[in-house]
Amino acid sequence: MHRRDFIFAAAALGATSLLPSLPAHAARRRLRLGMIGTGMRGQVLLRELLRRDDVEVAALCDIEPIMLKRALEMADKAGKPAPKTYGEDQDVHAYRRLLQQRGLDAVIIATPWEWHAPMSIDAMEARIPVGCEVVTGVTLQDHWNVLETQQRTGTPYMLLENVCYRRDVMAALQMVRAGLFGELVHLQAGYQHDLRGVKFNSGNPDQPYDSGVEFGPKAWSEARWRTEHSVRRNGELYPSHGIGPCAMYTGINRGNRFTHINSFATKARGLHDYTVAKSGGTTHPSTQVKFKLGDIVTTTLACENGETILLQHDTSLPRPYSLGFRVQGTHGLWMDLNQSIHIEGRSPPHKWELFQAYQDQYDHPLWRKYADSAAGAGHGGMDYFVIHAFVEAVKAEAPMPIDIYDAVAWSAITPLSEQSIAEGFRTLEFPDFTKGLWRSRKPIFAFDASY
Ligand SMILES: NC(=O)c1ccc[n+]([C@@H]2O[C@H](COP(=O)([O-])OP(=O)(O)OC[C@H]3O[C@@H](n4cnc5c(N)ncnc54)[C@H](O)[C@@H]3O)[C@@H](O)[C@H]2O)c1
Repeated sequence: MHRRDFIFAAAALGATSLLPSLPAHAARRRLRLGMIGTGMRGQVLLRELLRRDDVEVAALCDIEPIMLKRALEMADKAGKPAPKTYGEDQDVHAYRRLLQQRGLDAVIIATPWEWHAPMSIDAMEARIPVGCEVVTGVTLQDHWNVLETQQRTGTPYMLLENVCYRRDVMAALQMVRAGLFGELVHLQAGYQHDLRGVKFNSGNPDQPYDSGVEFGPKAWSEARWRTEHSVRRNGELYPSHGIGPCAMYTGINRGNRFTHINSFATKARGLHDYTVAKSGGTTHPSTQVKFKLGDIVTTTLACENGETILLQHDTSLPRPYSLGFRVQGTHGLWMDLNQSIHIEGRSPPHKWELFQAYQDQYDHPLWRKYADSAAGAGHGGMDYFVIHAFVEAVKAEAPMPIDIYDAVAWSAITPLSEQSIAEGFRTLEFPDFTKGLWRSRKPIFAFDASY
């Protein structure tokens, strides 16, 4: 068996303990990458790719001419050769031609959610490794289909969940691994982000945020597609930023697994109130829309090893941004909202301490090594790390640090939470996508200081 086939087969089986660590020759390899979706997020990721000497961005695809043009200009400004482009004809399947371009080593997908599953499946069928933006799919069946394709083809798949690489999140991971919190008992997180100015705009690409109440075809960027999910869905629509780190802390799919899930949703008020206030009345069509998404959706997950994880999706009301992490064990807890930590025996009794002192002590080796390279990268530097991890894993044909099992378990929370709410907040059994492999799989995320 060739080395590449062996690694792909081992990855498909989840047998990561059989896999070697990054070989030295990988450092010299240069990747030819394609990118599908060059919108607002695609451009952030593209900026990271263009900064790297070990990547050639060889192909770009987008069906919105302005987005494609902006991405091409970025490559030009970076002094890189012009990538081949696809999608000028606005054919929603133009990406399939990109996948046929000779010599692509990997593809990055940063399109609307409904495209992630079909695009990932087509790329893996073409044996092109996939780095996919969050989420993995929309329906539960999408998740099974993406998983089945990955396993049958053995093609690497990584969910590009950047929050796992946030500096404090990674320091907290080191603390968990060092046993500072004792045995973990309960975790909290969420997507608590006022998206009202993202879900609506005027449609003018030069004024995308906070500039109107259009959504759908007349709008720009995410308001063109994301808002529709708030119209027809009620659930935890964006779980991975919160659950990703919590799953790494608790070893989900690697010695632990989600066993049960339920969700509760509040009434929906925020988006309607916003459109009325912003348009100054109730005549604009957006003010007539009945939004299905509850303003706050609260999801609880139970884990095999006895922990609970609480997630909150909170995107329709005025509020400052916070992912609201809380990691609590038998010896103490960390909460990111007030940057505070309490460790029994170390902190003054019943008193908080500032996280910063611990942050310095437990800073992750990846951050110690690459902080300078990450300076200026998106989302406080974490976007550097998620791209770095994907590129290095593809170059070395090494296991993806956030792999297919992580992707489907985190992202399937959405359709399962929708089902729970639709069935009267019923508690559901969580599917075991690993079919028992979670018992023997070992954690690999951020154990190798090179990626
Ligand atoms: N990880 C993060 O921090 C983060 C931040 C923002 C967005 N995202 C994710 O990134 C993805 C893209 O979001 P965005 O903000 O860039 O949205 P966007 O609307 O700005 O960009 C999406 C792009 O995809 C293009 N597109 C749509 N259908 C296509 C098709 N069939 N073929 C080719 N191109 C197509 C659109 O024209 C658009 O330019 C989403 O999954 C979103 O959730 C992640």
